[in-house]
Amino acid sequence: MLLEPRDFPENFVFGAATAAYQIEGHQAGGAGETIWDHFAKNGGTFEAQDGALACDHYHRFEGDLDLMADGGFDAYRFSFSWARLFPDGKNLNPEGLAFYDRLIDAMLERKLRPFATAYHWDMPQTLGAIGGWANRDVVNHFGDFVGVVAKHFGERIESLATINEPWCASWLSHFIGEHAPGLQDIAVASKTMHNIMLAHGVGMEAARAETTKPVGIVLNFTPGEAASDSDEDQQALALHEAISNEWFISAAMRGEYPAAALKVLEPHMPKNWQNDMDVISAPIDFMGINFYTSLKVKHQEGDFPNIEVVSRGLETTDMGWEIEPAALGRVIVSVASYTGELPLYITENGMAAVSGINDMDRISYFKSHTDVVAACARQYPVKGYFVWSLMDNFEWALGYSKRFGIIHVDYDTQVRTPKDSYHWWKTGLTKRA
Ligand code: FCB
Repeated sequence: MLLEPRDFPENFVFGAATAAYQIEGHQAGGAGETIWDHFAKNGGTFEAQDGALACDHYHRFEGDLDLMADGGFDAYRFSFSWARLFPDGKNLNPEGLAFYDRLIDAMLERKLRPFATAYHWDMPQTLGAIGGWANRDVVNHFGDFVGVVAKHFGERIESLATINEPWCASWLSHFIGEHAPGLQDIAVASKTMHNIMLAHGVGMEAARAETTKPVGIVLNFTPGEAASDSDEDQQALALHEAISNEWFISAAMRGEYPAAALKVLEPHMPKNWQNDMDVISAPIDFMGINFYTSLKVKHQEGDFPNIEVVSRGLETTDMGWEIEPAALGRVIVSVASYTGELPLYITENGMAAVSGINDMDRISYFKSHTDVVAACARQYPVKGYFVWSLMDNFEWALGYSKRFGIIHVDYDTQVRTPKDSYHWWKTGLTKRA
């Protein structure tokens, strides 16, 4: 059950991932209110928990990076908090800039390669208040933020992703209503489905103007299968695929939205959206893939989208997500059919578990999924894999109730305790030296 680095191509990058709002502690360093602080205050999260303190990474980042480096990891995937750098969405906070200077320098001192993300969901609430991603002005403010990040940090980072999981920032947040701002509104959701991709395109332009480093995007994929061959179930599957998976990759790579989703969304989308497709599909340098689970879908009578998720009786994680490692292989093959020779990174993969420090279940999850990645990397340009997550953290709407870390965090004392899965990674990765 060991990780065998020699099963992977030479120079394959192994890293751990986090996101700013989930770990930093947003009350420190002059950060502004985010849409998540606002959402939490209004009861959108488990026990109204928020990221005010989180893992206090803002003050403890050196120890956290030491653990990552000691674990044998090559790279750290982290994000820049938009509201830390631009508390009111418009004016730069020098303390924020200084924090990321310290953080990146500390990575480089430890030979951890910085894989950065610009938007991992911490939009300043001032911009949320004017409509968030439904408002095109917000897209332009995002471009300014990415420009500053690329200019200031561009030479020291390895790569920059514009947006993490646009599906979550648009559909999950404005149609399903599970994430901030918690809306259930097809008209708003449709606008955000387009504008989040426009933000990616505008972010690409802004980054290109300031850095020669690789710029790309990180998408999440949840592949489906249909409960039966019936037309209705097949349609449910087609709509699931179109909205959750194809919308984003097809826009970024081909400048097109899938017809099955467009049919429903277009009446609500911004006028002349077609004119944005060139910006949205500007060439990227890499694609990040986040993968956790797959699902079976079935037609459901009633309201749009008429999709019911049905159990396949597979083992599930503490999120209730079914575990099917082979689905990650299908995702890689399908992504590569869009991206060709472009470098691919598995930018997130991992599981929530209640097993505590002795997390054998998480070790088997990593083993089964990294086996799939190693096999795919022989045929496809998969260049790296990032564990989600370095440590337990603020799991968005579920607050601190779900633990994804390979390092346990005691939220009362902020003590970090490496779990068995951390040692599993360390044993595998340090063999390479
Ligand atoms: C992804 C997010 C990440 C984390 C994991 C569990 O959707 O990108 O921040 O919450 O899920």
